[in-house]
Amino acid sequence: MTKQMQDKVAIVTGASSGIGRGIAEMFAAEGAKTVLAARRKGELDEIVDAITKKGGTAMAVPTDVTQEDQVLALFAKTKQAYGRIDVTVNNAGVPTHIPTEEITLEYWNQVMAVNLTGVFLCAREAIRYMKAQTNPQGGRIINMGSISAKTPRPDSIQYTATKFAIQGMTHQITQDGRKYGIVSSVIHPGSTFSGFSAGRRTGPGPGATPQEYSMDPADVARVAVLMASLPDEVNLYEATILPNQMRSFISRG
Ligand SMILES: NC(=O)c1ccc[n+]([C@@H]2O[C@H](COP(=O)([O-])OP(=O)(O)OC[C@H]3O[C@@H](n4cnc5c(N)ncnc54)[C@H](OP(=O)(O)O)[C@@H]3O)[C@@H](O)[C@H]2O)c1
Repeated sequence: MTKQMQDKVAIVTGASSGIGRGIAEMFAAEGAKTVLAARRKGELDEIVDAITKKGGTAMAVPTDVTQEDQVLALFAKTKQAYGRIDVTVNNAGVPTHIPTEEITLEYWNQVMAVNLTGVFLCAREAIRYMKAQTNPQGGRIINMGSISAKTPRPDSIQYTATKFAIQGMTHQITQDGRKYGIVSSVIHPGSTFSGFSAGRRTGPGPGATPQEYSMDPADVARVAVLMASLPDEVNLYEATILPNQMRSFISRG
């Protein structure tokens, strides 16, 4: 059976754990030549090893997405290894939980650097390569938003601001990229088991109450595969994926 992403070349940032790892593993299982980027080399190497043992094609490129030179190197190494870039998933991100009045300017800037500037740097490089390549020209840029881009959590102004901004960047990239065959999509997950929740949870699935159900990163990865595997002429712009019992977003009372 033909795999859904056979021979596509994909970069996934934040691929050393959680949702990014889930997306990278599923992309590779679906036949994509997958480049895993994050800061922790040891974790990336282990994941690439496991993918390779299963017959997939993957490469680790340790990258801090806040560092322009490292982002440039990530895209250059991908092009050198696999010849083109079809899909870029801007997934790297950090959570915040601190009252607004206690946030220092330094901490504000640190979060902006990862959640926003990192997305910009990777999107800019993706656009440069996708615009320049042929047969076909273009590609897809999939950004990781959050349900926080719809309904903020308490005490998380940096996270909320960056996730709302990612929604805007997704529309802008699609508008400006259309003439080059470049489109962008955004995924807004609700609670998903990952490094964000590893301190509180032992795994995905039910929590202490029905409202605390945690999705598996593979649930979110299936949405990313769908986005990445649609015909070039078609784009799934936005997907919100939530545990059914996570009701505060969907209704009142
Ligand atoms: N889990 C949820 O419930 C949930 C819900 C909605 C949205 N999201 C979004 O999903 C995305 C992934 O988060 P996650 O939940 O999977 O958490 P996670 O397991 O903590 O993963 C975060 C990833 O981002 C990477 N990262 C952090 N700073 C980086 C930097 N400067 N440069 C490169 N990579 C960096 C981390 O790798 P290194 O530490 O190795 O660099 C890690 O791979 C985030 O954008 C998050 O906002 C998560």
